[in-house]
Amino acid sequence: MNKLELNIKNVAGFVSADKINALDAAAAAGLEKLEKGTGAGNDFLGWLHLPSATPESLVASIEANAATLREDCEYVVAIGIGGSYLGAKAVIEALSDSFAALKPAKGARVLFAGQNIGEDYTYELMDLLKGKKFGIIVISKSGTTTEPAIAFRLLKDMLEKQEGKEFAAKHIVAVTDANRGALRKLATEEGYATYVIEDNVGGRFSVLTPVGLLPIAVAGYDIRQLLQGAKDMEAATATADDSNVSYLYAKTRNALYNAGKKIEILVNYNPKLHYLGEWWKQLYGESEGKDNKGIFPAAVDNSTDLHSMGQWIQEGERSIFETVISVASQNHDVKIPSDEANLDGLNYIAGRRIDEVNKMAELGTVIAHVDGGVPNIHVTLPSLSEYNLGQVMYFFEKACGISGYVLDVNPFNQPGVEAYKKNMFALLNKPGYEEESKAIQARL
Ligand code: PA5
Repeated sequence: MNKLELNIKNVAGFVSADKINALDAAAAAGLEKLEKGTGAGNDFLGWLHLPSATPESLVASIEANAATLREDCEYVVAIGIGGSYLGAKAVIEALSDSFAALKPAKGARVLFAGQNIGEDYTYELMDLLKGKKFGIIVISKSGTTTEPAIAFRLLKDMLEKQEGKEFAAKHIVAVTDANRGALRKLATEEGYATYVIEDNVGGRFSVLTPVGLLPIAVAGYDIRQLLQGAKDMEAATATADDSNVSYLYAKTRNALYNAGKKIEILVNYNPKLHYLGEWWKQLYGESEGKDNKGIFPAAVDNSTDLHSMGQWIQEGERSIFETVISVASQNHDVKIPSDEANLDGLNYIAGRRIDEVNKMAELGTVIAHVDGGVPNIHVTLPSLSEYNLGQVMYFFEKACGISGYVLDVNPFNQPGVEAYKKNMFALLNKPGYEEESKAIQARL
């Protein structure tokens, strides 16, 4: 198996094939809107053909800058939030040794900042970087997002003081808008290497641009394979029929939503996939949660969360469905040993691989949840590799575009995320927010 597979047999008892296929016309129209650029948000479709259209020169340039950062620095801090963070984080976590931080480094370690405004997090990061050679990849399409701007101000200042302005200028890479924004201006003035986030690619669809590719390459992973997996999925998701896994997934989840399943839980059985769930939540949450509509995207990491969320999923309100991501082959082999005393009673599985137990936990859970009233969609990845992550991320992106159009929303805007920013700026007395400041203070 080298292709991602989608199986919807475990939704059959909840929505009929007829109900799913009733969405054929809407899904086909959604796919056509993407391909022809005729739907809402059509100025944000630059992600659609990124895998097949990314030029060799861009890949080679990213690899060259990544090699310099990897060789010269002990740490490289990727600064960004939301779509300017989650894609790289998801791929790096999925491919990294779970204990990499505690083992000898094989190149620069990639750390993240600007994805929160935790003061202690920031202090502890700066404490770690004290006296260390580090580089910065600052990623912000707008160049004005508060969280990464604060982190960049602090770390740029620290790097310049520690290593001098010349080293800093050579080891800061900015990924931002082509022309606009504070970051572009600063990068030009300071002579940083830069990459462009094209206007027509929204943050949550940007993992296959330098936003994701540069940190992933710095972490030592093969971005060509990532792009190849996405490219093969791009080719496999072009037709308006059920052989197109993105099309089928988009139809199925909308049919479930129409049948009252308002919450989708992305389930993994591999701790390395936690951040894929976080990336997926942003992709679907920001794309579909608008106009008082949209499936609420949640995620669990099993079997860990079977011991916390398992009760709710088994017997709580029946408004949920699950999309299980299964990884067919593991990259390592660990067998359970036999034990003469067998006090733990585990000899019945002695000699078997841990993954066999995990797979039976997965299968047993799927059956129990389906029996308990939770429809299950199944996505199988052959293994955790750059190629397969490219496949799955593009699969979800394409499905998200189709699904948003089936739901009849603009899948490519996010007007709602401005509300908290307006209040925060008013509360912080940002110049230009005087009226809002007065109004919000009066409410406190
Ligand atoms: O998907 C999105 O558009 C957002 O998550 C943005 O990526 C996020 O807010 C960061 O924005 P920016 O890259 O402009 O700093």
